[in-house]
Amino acid sequence: MLERYGHGGDVWTAEEKFGRGREQFLDFSSNMNPFGPPDAVEEVLRSGWKNIVRYPDPAVRELRGKIAAKYGVPAESVLVGNGAAELIDLIVRVLQPEVTALARPSFSEYEDAVLKTGGRIHGIPLRAEHCFRLQKADAEEALKRSDLLFLGQPNNPTGRLIPQELLNDLAGSGHPLILDEAFLDFVPDEKNVTLLRLAAESRHVAVIRSMTKFYAIPGARLGFIVAHPDVIGRMSRLQVPWSVNYFAQLIGCAVLEDEAFHAKIISWLQEESPWLAAGLAGLGLEVTPSDTNYLLCALPEQSPINVRILQEEMGRRGVLIRDASLFEGLGTRYFRTAVKLRSDNERMLAALSDVLKAAQAGEISLERGGR
Ligand SMILES: Cc1ncc(COP(=O)(O)O)c(C=O)c1O
Repeated sequence: MLERYGHGGDVWTAEEKFGRGREQFLDFSSNMNPFGPPDAVEEVLRSGWKNIVRYPDPAVRELRGKIAAKYGVPAESVLVGNGAAELIDLIVRVLQPEVTALARPSFSEYEDAVLKTGGRIHGIPLRAEHCFRLQKADAEEALKRSDLLFLGQPNNPTGRLIPQELLNDLAGSGHPLILDEAFLDFVPDEKNVTLLRLAAESRHVAVIRSMTKFYAIPGARLGFIVAHPDVIGRMSRLQVPWSVNYFAQLIGCAVLEDEAFHAKIISWLQEESPWLAAGLAGLGLEVTPSDTNYLLCALPEQSPINVRILQEEMGRRGVLIRDASLFEGLGTRYFRTAVKLRSDNERMLAALSDVLKAAQAGEISLERGGR
């Protein structure tokens, strides 16, 4: 399996497994914007590299100020982290919930953070018959059974937003709520959907954002959280000093206000996502409608192969997909794919079609695996 270290986007493992150079894979297993970072990233790295001799700002002042200004929240409600991943870990360590309710399936780091602090999990089922949308009755049950709700908005790997009315109810309930808006930048209606402002005012809501996906900078590691200043203070006392390195701070400042880049990504996705979804459905796959830049798909029920074999066969053809059966709550038919540029999407569909035909012809099967 490619998710040896728990996540997609691991071209190092793919290189070891499939014996081809890591640059040669088409990686649909992590969900970056496929245009790459804004041009300003190269410029600031070129001009700023000499500052590597200095420590970064330990309080991340400039970037915090820019984030605060962009989203209309006070700077003391913002903490910048070494990726959203660091902030997921820190907030759970600060809140120390006994029972955390999280969706099944959802991003594994929520559960890992809870288990590391000795907490327990209440799983909230997301069901295929509801197109994986969170249901009111299940959310209400979770309120009763937990002391923290930890939800993705939109959720990974399903790509679904929480229905707005339900979200408003949850946020207004007074129950501690952490919302991971890592992929919300890809949602056209982001400004109306985000709870960032509410999080700055509220004692019980915190919102986490990743900057690595939308700006295609996962190697830099950058994210932020907005919460009550008391919570921010407790988190920052637990954070390792200089956790956000100089280059990440520099990049964050350079990309945050790039409105043209933002508009380009939104318009690409609005065209490309339905196109890719239709292509996948045309191959006989079940495709979950998505609110963001990845699609959860399933092999047909009667498929002669499971997703582990599919992933392996795709990898041999140079295309990486995410085995979504590894997410708690999904069966062996599920995989997740990013939406990329048209020519790459075409290559991915061609590889999928090739594997599915070989499976139908009996050349690949569960017993025999691939070649
Ligand atoms: C839903 C979700 N939240 C957070 C993260 C972590 O993002 P970052 O790269 O900012 O640590 C990921 C990474 O895949 C993710 O899928």
